[in-house]
Amino acid sequence: MSRPEYRIPGQIKTGKLSSSSGPGKTDFPEAKELFVEKLICHDPRTKHLMESEMALSVLPATGAGAEITGVDISRRLSESEMTVIKNAFAEHGAIFFREQNLTEAEHITFARRFGEININRFFAKHRDYPEIAMVSKEPDQVANIGGGWHTDHSYDQEPAMGSILIARELPPSGGDTWFANMYKAYETLPVDLKASIRDLRAIHSARHVFGSRDDMDMLKKTRGRIGNPEAADALHDSEHPVVISRPLSKKKALYVNPGFTIGIAGWSERDSESLLGKLYKHAIKEEHITKYQWKPGSIAFWDNRATWHFAQNDYQGFRRIMHRITINGCPLESAFADTKKAS
Ligand SMILES: [Fe+2]
Repeated sequence: MSRPEYRIPGQIKTGKLSSSSGPGKTDFPEAKELFVEKLICHDPRTKHLMESEMALSVLPATGAGAEITGVDISRRLSESEMTVIKNAFAEHGAIFFREQNLTEAEHITFARRFGEININRFFAKHRDYPEIAMVSKEPDQVANIGGGWHTDHSYDQEPAMGSILIARELPPSGGDTWFANMYKAYETLPVDLKASIRDLRAIHSARHVFGSRDDMDMLKKTRGRIGNPEAADALHDSEHPVVISRPLSKKKALYVNPGFTIGIAGWSERDSESLLGKLYKHAIKEEHITKYQWKPGSIAFWDNRATWHFAQNDYQGFRRIMHRITINGCPLESAFADTKKAS
């Protein structure tokens, strides 16, 4: 089977991206206090909170993710605060924080509250903190890392839960990250398409992305920042349900992605490409996506089981340094596993 395109040609155009969310426009609607109220009133775990403790606000974006305000994540967060953050993460697939000032050690401490840290096999590591992967681009480098729609680690048998990315050094403009909401992508599929994919499984691979074949231009240009091709070559492809039940929240999400999905199990290359192309086109509809504009102190924490992301490469000649910590996940179940067991 030929390699899939890491990027989807022609479907995301720069003009369209900037017009959907240009300067002066916000992805975060106003007056979302009701949502916070909903968290307090309807979640039994947060019902007991005193109002004074509830400085956190959760502001859902129109496409994917939600911004959380009113919290300093460099300090030890209370269980109540952690509950709100975890609920928002589960509900929206990505959470964003602004004006945070975390040291590397505090970044690691925050990440550990969500699970065990996954030390990435392919990314360059921080000199002093191997838990931190360096996502970097120097002024003289042309290719960026993650410059196509994908979700991390789908090539693993137990895909990582998600990553916490901190902006350390930013270009004067550009370098935004797009997120696409895979809950919405699934929910809004036509009924017949939903029915046709419910029992399918897809094959995911890292070899064409991180392996030694070097058949992608992007790879040749990111050597040194991404490495260890032998480890990628040795990886076995993974198979996951096309529609998963997100662990814990049990929300249904579309789980295929242009970066690492190489086909539908048991299907021909042609049929696989046809179906995946249809799903991908639907997934990146404007109403499912959000552009996150980085500022000093910005943090994005995304769930690989509920979102895709895409790092825009439009800041040639400038340095962009991001620190990423990835948290381990678990095996993924079909959203319809219970139905199957019952039948
Ligand atoms: Fe990524």
